[in-house]
Amino acid sequence: TSEILHIAVLLGASGDLAKKKIFPTLWWLYRDGLLPDNIHFIGYARSKMNVNQIREKTIPFMKVKESDKGKVDSFFQHMSYVQGSYTDESGFRDLNSKINSFPGGTKANRLFYLALPPTVFEDVTRNIHTTCMEHGGWNRIIIEKPFGRDFDSSEKLSNHLSSLFKEEHLYRIDHYLGKEMVQNLLILRFANRIFGPIWNRDNIASVLITFKEPFGTAGRGGYFDQFGIIRDVMQNHLFQVLTLVAMEKPVSKDADDIRDEKVKVLKSIKPLTLDDMVLGQYTGDPDSEGDKKLGYLDDETVPKGSITPTFAVAKFNIRNERWDGVPFILKCGKALNERKAEVRVQFRDVPGDIFNGGTVKRNELVIRVQPNEAVYCKMMTKTPGMRVDPVETEMDLSYSSRYKDVNMPDAYERLVLDVFTGSQLNFVRSDELSEAWRIFTPVLHKIENEKVKPILYTYGTRGPSEADDFIKKNGFEYSSTYKWINPNL
Ligand code: BG6
Repeated sequence: TSEILHIAVLLGASGDLAKKKIFPTLWWLYRDGLLPDNIHFIGYARSKMNVNQIREKTIPFMKVKESDKGKVDSFFQHMSYVQGSYTDESGFRDLNSKINSFPGGTKANRLFYLALPPTVFEDVTRNIHTTCMEHGGWNRIIIEKPFGRDFDSSEKLSNHLSSLFKEEHLYRIDHYLGKEMVQNLLILRFANRIFGPIWNRDNIASVLITFKEPFGTAGRGGYFDQFGIIRDVMQNHLFQVLTLVAMEKPVSKDADDIRDEKVKVLKSIKPLTLDDMVLGQYTGDPDSEGDKKLGYLDDETVPKGSITPTFAVAKFNIRNERWDGVPFILKCGKALNERKAEVRVQFRDVPGDIFNGGTVKRNELVIRVQPNEAVYCKMMTKTPGMRVDPVETEMDLSYSSRYKDVNMPDAYERLVLDVFTGSQLNFVRSDELSEAWRIFTPVLHKIENEKVKPILYTYGTRGPSEADDFIKKNGFEYSSTYKWINPNL
C-alpha cells in the first residue's frame, strides 16, 4: 500500500509484561482493525528467540476465537524478532537496519514500547536515541512505571529523558487513565449542569477514592517490596483519579490544557505527613485455604521482617478556593475482602432536618471504576405507600444493564491506540510526575528511615480497623443502614 509504514518495537519481548499484556494488546487492536494497515511489529530482547517462540508464549493470553485463526497468522507474519543487548549500541544498530530494510522503512513512524525493568531504561533510551531516530517519520516512546522511587530518582530519570526526547515523544503509562470510568470523569463533571454548581466545599463533605484487591503479592513480592502500596497504587493510579475529580474545568479538552489543570491541583497539596495516614501489612488467615493462609512475610520473594505497607489510607487537603477543608481520602490495599475501585463523593448533611432526626442520610455520588462499571447516586425518597418517611435509595446507571452489548476495551488497548494517534491526554506529563513525588517523598523517606511499622491485618478482611476509624474521624460518614446491590448480579 502507499500508506506510511508503522513499526511498533516491543523491547523486553521475552518478558512477562510483553507476553501477558503488550503483545495481546497489539493483537486485539490489530484484530479489530484499529491499527494502521501498513504495520510491522518487532520484538527485541537479549534472548535467542524467534517469532514462533513468541507466538507460543503469547497465544495463551490472546483470547483467540476460532473465527480469528487466520488473522492470528497474519498478525505473526507481520512480526520480526531482533536479538540484542540493552546496554550496547550494536543491537540497536541491527534494529535500525531491520526497520530500514522494509519498503518505506526509512520514512516509517516508529513506536518503541519499553516493557523493561527500570535498571535498563537509561541505556535503552540512549541507544534508541543514538541509533534509531534519524529518519523521516515520528518517534514515540512508551514507558511504564516505576518512574523512579522518590523525587530525586524520578527527576534524574526525567532529566535523562528530556535530554534525549521532547515531551511530545514521551508516553508515560498510568493504565488507570485508560479505564472507562476514569475517562468518564471528564464527561460527568463537565458535560452535566447538575454537578458543576455543587462540586465544591460548600456542598461536598468528603471524597473517598478506594482501591481494593482480594489477593496478595503472590510471587511479585520481590518487586513489590521495593515499592510498597503507596508507590505501587496511591501515588500514581489514585492520584490520577484525585486530580480528575478535583481539577477546574480546563479551557479545552486538549491534552495540555487538561494536564495543566491537573498540575494545578497537585501544586495546591502540601507534602503528606504520617499523621494523615494509616499503614497496614497483611498476615495469613490460619482458618482459610490456599494463598489466604499466607501473609506478606510468608512470600518467599519478600525479605524477612519487611515493614513495607501493603495497605495505606491517606488524607489530602487541596488548598484552593474550591476545596480547602474537604478531605480527599485515598485508600488502597492488597489481600482485602473484595476487588473494587471507586470514587465516592459524599455531600454535606441537609441543613434543618424536618424529618425524624437521623433518617435522612447524606447523598453520595459513586463512580464505580471496577468491577461492574456504574455511576449511581444515593439519595432519599419517600417510602413508597402510605408512609411519608424518607428512605434511602439510588439512581442507578449500571453499565451492564444500560449498555448491554457494548464491548469495553481494556485500558491498555485504549492507551496504545492513543499513542498511534498521537494523543497524550491520558499519559503522565513530567511536571505532573514531579509534583506527585514532591507530595509523597518526605513521608516515604520517613517511613523507611524510621522503620515505621505497619498495623497488621488479616488476609481477606477490610484492612486494619484503625483505617475505618481514621476515615470516619476525617469526615466520611459510613452508615451501615444501606448497601447498594448490583441489580445485574
Ligand atoms: C498495577 C500495580 O499498576 O496495578 C498492581 O502494580 C495492581 O499491584 C494493578 O495489582 C491493578 O490494576 P487493575 O487494572 O487490575 O486494577
